[in-house]
Amino acid sequence: MGVAGKPGASRVLIEGLKTLEYRGYDSAGVAIQHEGGLVVLRRAGKLAELEAALAELEPFGTTGMGHTRWATHGPPTEQNAHPHVDTHERVAVVHNGIIENHEAMRRELEATGCRFRSDTDTEVLAHLISERIKAGDDLSEAVRVTAQRLEGAYAFVVVSADHPDTVVGVRHFSPLVVGLAEGASFLASDIPALLPHTRSVMPLEDGDVVTLRPDGVSVCDVDGAAVERPTRTIDWDPVRIQKGGYKHFMMKEIEEQPAAIAATMASRLDDATGSIHMDALDALGDRLRAVTRMTFVACGTSWHAGLAGKFYIENIVGMPVGVDYASEFRYRSIRGGPDHLIVPITQSGETADTLGALRDAKAEGSPLISICNVPESSAARESDAVIQTEAGPEIGVASTKAFTTQLVALYMLALDLGLRRGVLSHDDVEARITPLRRVRYAMEGALRQAALVKEVAHRYADAQDFLFLGRGVNYPIALEGALKLKEISYIHAEGYPAGEMKHGPIALIDASMPVVTIATPGRVYEKVLSNIEEVRARDGVIIAVCAEGDERVRALADEVLEVPAVDEDLSPLVNVVPLQLLAYYIAEKRGCDIDQPRNLAKSVTVE
Ligand code: M6R
Repeated sequence: MGVAGKPGASRVLIEGLKTLEYRGYDSAGVAIQHEGGLVVLRRAGKLAELEAALAELEPFGTTGMGHTRWATHGPPTEQNAHPHVDTHERVAVVHNGIIENHEAMRRELEATGCRFRSDTDTEVLAHLISERIKAGDDLSEAVRVTAQRLEGAYAFVVVSADHPDTVVGVRHFSPLVVGLAEGASFLASDIPALLPHTRSVMPLEDGDVVTLRPDGVSVCDVDGAAVERPTRTIDWDPVRIQKGGYKHFMMKEIEEQPAAIAATMASRLDDATGSIHMDALDALGDRLRAVTRMTFVACGTSWHAGLAGKFYIENIVGMPVGVDYASEFRYRSIRGGPDHLIVPITQSGETADTLGALRDAKAEGSPLISICNVPESSAARESDAVIQTEAGPEIGVASTKAFTTQLVALYMLALDLGLRRGVLSHDDVEARITPLRRVRYAMEGALRQAALVKEVAHRYADAQDFLFLGRGVNYPIALEGALKLKEISYIHAEGYPAGEMKHGPIALIDASMPVVTIATPGRVYEKVLSNIEEVRARDGVIIAVCAEGDERVRALADEVLEVPAVDEDLSPLVNVVPLQLLAYYIAEKRGCDIDQPRNLAKSVTVE
């Protein structure tokens, strides 16, 4: 985050960084203009360490910048924390992303006698910019010319003691948004940091160099040509990014899911006519007619949503669907074309791997519809059309409500495509819409079981490993249950299609291995029961997610996590709830940092 012209800048920066800490939280630092020099303060660990150090001083400064780090080059020590400074501490830089050619520049600088104090790729920037300033450039010019030399995907922000009212930022494939206010300007890598100061924001584009001063901002490209970027007014309610009495954002977000999926349906379902309409498909116009296949590209939890989406599109529309990790898609020889619809799925819209896949597919002429939760994000802006999920800001690093809104978006996409392609009639769609509307109540029913899930969680909180099994549309839910558990409790967990267990993972099963199995009604129900028997025969401990009152599962399982019965297609929305709660309560019992688990970041903006 950067600020130019706001009294009490030290406090402004800390408060802003608190809203950005989800992006990285292994160390933090600020550089603030003060009495003709820069006050640079850095701390290893959470932002609270830096906040405590700054609290010893009165709020000070009007211009400066701050950063929270997710380590790429060098361990998360104070020495490697940002800002990084030049030899005389007249220039300071904070940076997200990676400077890929930093080693060559470091060697060049070292050959001229420059001494480096960190392991980071960032530090070269401070030295290079300092040299340009010494050669006579002003700060904007020095930054712009330095940016011309850089390779990689990054955003960085610079202050200089010789330019006390100025902050300069560069965006190149990592997000950077400007905030405009009376007498002050701001920039940040995400909008929530700006909201206490302004609702008027200007998202930057790749290659932009922005200069902030108290009286306004100017933007140019790396060649120095002035560019205009539109401003937008943000109408979010800041209350949505507060914990609201919950111990963790994750629990708040788990409980927000029924409302979030309802909001995602709201403008797309018409109760009066029983029909569905996805504007995003209209936006593709004639290009949609040429489409013969589809690929979802995504990472992590969003990739799991893509697996469920494959099930929906193939079963409902009959169109072949690929699901690829975005980081793998980029390196395939077949990546798109005019008949190949690419659907990036991304909560943040800023995941570097997903953006890379999106850009590659675009270059090959694919139509692009993103499923995205952040309308101002890069993915949303760079796609031909966007299906916006209405999860609202998701702060907990472990994704919950973004996932279930993605599932709903994918299901609606399948229905609308089915209608447009003539494989579903209006009556078919109408028959599916009523249960879709009602599924939020089943989720609420699943949430009401939280106390029972907590008891089960406490009984297994010391387990070393977990296996998660599911079949069909609940196979992705098994993967998601395992990911949630490992992310926030650090217990080793694996998700498998239940039918695949006998081909290897069964070797792991013994009396110490809890096996969480999704056994709700549907076409694979009997098969899953057979898989449960296979686990029992090897003394494994069965924790089953099953429909309320299912006596067959109850007779086989050691523990049951009951959920209201719903249509099989919609069951992932309900079945994932006890798995999210299980992970949450196990992590809580183990004393883990639930909203900011170790080594992770909410938005992974490096490849
Ligand atoms: O913002 P995105 O949906 O693109 O993020 C993708 C993954 O990084 C994300 O889902 C990650 O796996 C979460 N930590 C899962 O809880």
